[in-house]
Amino acid sequence: MEIKPFKRESVMPLPVTFISTVSKSGVRNIAPYGCVMPVLRPLDLVCVATAKRRDTMDNIRKTGEFVINLPGENLSDKVIPTAKAIPSDADEFEFAGLESRPSKKVKAPGIKGCYAWMECELVKLYEETSYILIMGKVVHLEIADEVYEQNGYCNVKKARPLMMMGSDTGMHFCTIEELDRFEPFGAMFSDGKDPLAKMYTKDKR
Ligand SMILES: Cc1cc2nc3c(=O)[nH]c(=O)nc-3n(C[C@H](O)[C@H](O)[C@H](O)COP(=O)(O)O)c2cc1C
Repeated sequence: MEIKPFKRESVMPLPVTFISTVSKSGVRNIAPYGCVMPVLRPLDLVCVATAKRRDTMDNIRKTGEFVINLPGENLSDKVIPTAKAIPSDADEFEFAGLESRPSKKVKAPGIKGCYAWMECELVKLYEETSYILIMGKVVHLEIADEVYEQNGYCNVKKARPLMMMGSDTGMHFCTIEELDRFEPFGAMFSDGKDPLAKMYTKDKR
């Protein structure tokens, strides 16, 4: 069946993240963002697509910092409270009933109860008429000990990452399922070796 080109979210699951920021005057803001993408392996860049009118965007522009919080399905009831347009001088942690956790490298706090946190610094904005692409550098990455395994794998059965698929009337929240099928990165290369393997063995994390 052919469907309209704009219905990309109906065929492509999106991660549901919460971006937390602070304004210049110290007001804490949270907004759900699904258009978030890591830029290639093994770079430390992330790209976020944002509409122009967002407190999140204003705060990132003014402070150069943000945190991408990764929630599990347990926080699905916080998506709508944080997506609501409330005055920019209102504290969205309080509004949504979410607790903060201090960040290590940026002023914006993270959100307690998420399973991972990417502290980011603004690298560049790609501004177009109807959207902006925010290029951020991850300056500190943290994951909850209980979901992280020895081999650098986030156990999705434990983390239950919150995801979303669109339909004509709204958002269907979901999570991902482990298929118990593994392929080493090296399998993509003719010599069977992952050219980036050293990046992962320098230390155990
Ligand atoms: C699941 C979900 C995903 C969203 N993803 C994005 C997104 O990727 N980019 C965007 O600009 N807005 C997105 N939004 C809309 C913003 O979260 C919403 O407009 C929010 O009120 C913006 O808050 P702010 O003005 O405090 O930044 C999303 C909303 C939901 C519910």
